[in-house]
Amino acid sequence: MSQSSPKTPGAVIDRASADRPVPKAGILEIHAYVPGKASAPGIDKPVKLSANENALGSSPKARAAYAEAVDRLQVYPDPRTSIVRTAIAQHYRLEPERLIFGCGSDEIFALLNQTYLEPGDNIVQGEFAFAAFAIGARACQAEVRSAKEPGHRIDVDELLSCVDERTRLVFLANPGNPTGTWIPFSEVRRLHEALPPSVVLVLDGAYAEFCLDPSFDDGLEYARAQENVVVTHTFSKLYGLAGLRIGWAYAPLAITEAVDRIRLPFNTTVPAQLAAVAALDDVEFRDASIELVERWRPWLTQQLGGLGLEVVGPSAANFVLIGFPDRSGKTAGDAEAFLSARGLLLRTLYNYGLPNHLRLTIGLEEQNRAVVEALAEFMRS
Ligand SMILES: Cc1ncc(COP(=O)(O)O)c(C=O)c1O
Repeated sequence: MSQSSPKTPGAVIDRASADRPVPKAGILEIHAYVPGKASAPGIDKPVKLSANENALGSSPKARAAYAEAVDRLQVYPDPRTSIVRTAIAQHYRLEPERLIFGCGSDEIFALLNQTYLEPGDNIVQGEFAFAAFAIGARACQAEVRSAKEPGHRIDVDELLSCVDERTRLVFLANPGNPTGTWIPFSEVRRLHEALPPSVVLVLDGAYAEFCLDPSFDDGLEYARAQENVVVTHTFSKLYGLAGLRIGWAYAPLAITEAVDRIRLPFNTTVPAQLAAVAALDDVEFRDASIELVERWRPWLTQQLGGLGLEVVGPSAANFVLIGFPDRSGKTAGDAEAFLSARGLLLRTLYNYGLPNHLRLTIGLEEQNRAVVEALAEFMRS
C-alpha cells in the first residue's frame, strides 16, 4: 500500500478508488493550530506567558462551583446551557433565546463557518487574524481572504476591498490577537454599513474587557437591531476559565436557530456551566484582572521600548506584541530560546507571518519584571 500523501491535496483525486481514506480537498493544506508553548526542557515550573491566560488564575467563586460539579459527573450537561444563558442575559441585558454557547468561542467560529460556507465561498479577515477563523473556513473548502493591516491595525477599507459576491462572513477580533490593536466603534459601524446584508459580520470580543478607551464598544448593543451581526465573548480570558472551554455569542435569532441545528447538543460541560455562572458573579476577581493588565501593560510597553524593541500598539488586550527590529541585530527566535531556557515562555508567531515578533501575556509583577530583566540581558548579549 502506498505510504505517500497525495502530492496536490487540492487537486481532484478519485477518492472512491483510492487505496486508503483520502481527506477531502484542502484539508491537508490547512496548518493546524499552534498552541502557546507550555513546557521547556529541564525547567520544572516554567512561567507560561504564551497563551493570554489570566495571570491571577481563576475566580475563587468559580473554583468552588467547579468543586461542586464532582457530584454530577455522571449526568449529561444541560444542552441549552440554561443557567449560563439566564446569567448572561441578565448581566448584559440580552434576549436569552439569541445566545449561542460553545466549547470556547473557537467552536462558535467553526459552527458559523459550517452554517454559512459552501465550497468556493470566502471569508474576509485581517492579515494577522486569530488562526481559528481561517482553519474552520478552509475545512469548509472556502477561500480565506486576508486584508492588509497597515501598522498591525485593522483597516476597514482594506477589509471592504476583499469582499465580493462570494463573501459570507467577515471576522473582526477587536482588540485583535496577536496584534493587541483595536479600532473605534465608528469604524466597526462603517464596516457593517458597507457590507451586503447577506454577509455575517462576526465581532470577536475575546479581549474586549481589557480595552478601556471610551470610544471602544464590543458591539452588543448595536447587534440588537441587526440581522447579520454576531458578537462573541469567552470565559477564557477575563474570567480565567480557559481550561473549562466555554464561550458564547449574541446573534440574530435566525442565525442562532440555524447554528443550533448542527451544534453538538452537549458542547458545554457540567463543570463549565457551574463555574461560568459563578465567575460572572465575581466582580472582585474581574476587577482585579483588569487592574493587573491596566497597571502592567503601560509599564511593559515602556520598559521594552527602552530596550530598543518595538511594542506594537498601544495594546488594548492582556498581552503585548514585541517586534525585534532589524537594526537590533537580534531575532525573535533567539529571544524566545533565551527566555525559554530561563523558564519564561512567550509565543512565537511564525504561523501568523510575524517571524520577528513575540507575544507576551501580561503576568504578575515578578513575572513581568523577570521578562524585562531577561530581555535586557538578551539584548546586551
Ligand atoms: C482573538 C481570539 N478570539 C477567540 C479566542 C478563543 O477563545 P476560546 O475558544 O478560549 O473562547 C482567542 C483565544 O486565544 C482569541 O485570541
